[in-house]
Amino acid sequence: MIVSEGRTRIPLLAGNWKMNGLSASSGELSAMLAGAAGLPDRLDVLVCPPATLIAPFAGLTQGTRLRIGGQDCHWEASGAFTGDISAEMLADAGAKAVIVGHSERRTDHNETDDEVRRKVLAARRAGIMPIVCVGETHAQREAGEATKVVGSQLAGSLPDGDLMGLTVAYEPVWAIGTGLTPTTADVAEMHGFIRTGLRQRFGAGAESVRILYGGSVKPNNATELMRVEDVDGALVGGASLKATDFLAIGAAFD
Ligand code: PGA
Repeated sequence: MIVSEGRTRIPLLAGNWKMNGLSASSGELSAMLAGAAGLPDRLDVLVCPPATLIAPFAGLTQGTRLRIGGQDCHWEASGAFTGDISAEMLADAGAKAVIVGHSERRTDHNETDDEVRRKVLAARRAGIMPIVCVGETHAQREAGEATKVVGSQLAGSLPDGDLMGLTVAYEPVWAIGTGLTPTTADVAEMHGFIRTGLRQRFGAGAESVRILYGGSVKPNNATELMRVEDVDGALVGGASLKATDFLAIGAAFD
């Protein structure tokens, strides 16, 4: 029941480097590039380095299958927002996608669903793919509120209208960086719940939305997690920093 019978959507392997990486990390990117040719054909590959590395990485990966993305953006195109970066700036630097609403942003920077929704609109305006993160805390799961929390995050974080290119990432907060993962049955339940919610709200267009799983995806659990129905790829943190691990996760999509 929970094993996908064949993918209708092209899966996405996305790496989130978080606040890691200096110019010397281009060596790791080159190793990823060298190995990317060996990954399954039907797989999109994205690396989201810190903002300082977007332009050089976009240059290094030009004309290859590897795409570069940002980890956050502001909702305005420009203005007096010290320290912020707009979706247009990401696109200008060569980014093709942007992660929005990551739990580290929601928690550490008090981002609200409505701010996330405006960031999705900004990504759409700039022509880059938004990856919208949602996920419950451990306490919320223990209280039996996981789907309620995720449903409400999605209701507030997804704007109405065109779904083109939208990607959702289900990342249970308690699984991020902890080595813990939900059971495949729990992943199947949540991804099914998200897909149903998308269908109810957006109709047939919901079939085009990729739903990634994120939270302690590693080479040794990727095959199992990526075979779950309605899992259309992975958002990978720690294991995306090493080319060998990232590529090994990519191989799980075979
Ligand atoms: P992790 O992070 O793979 O290190 O758990 C995932 C994420 O935060 O996107």
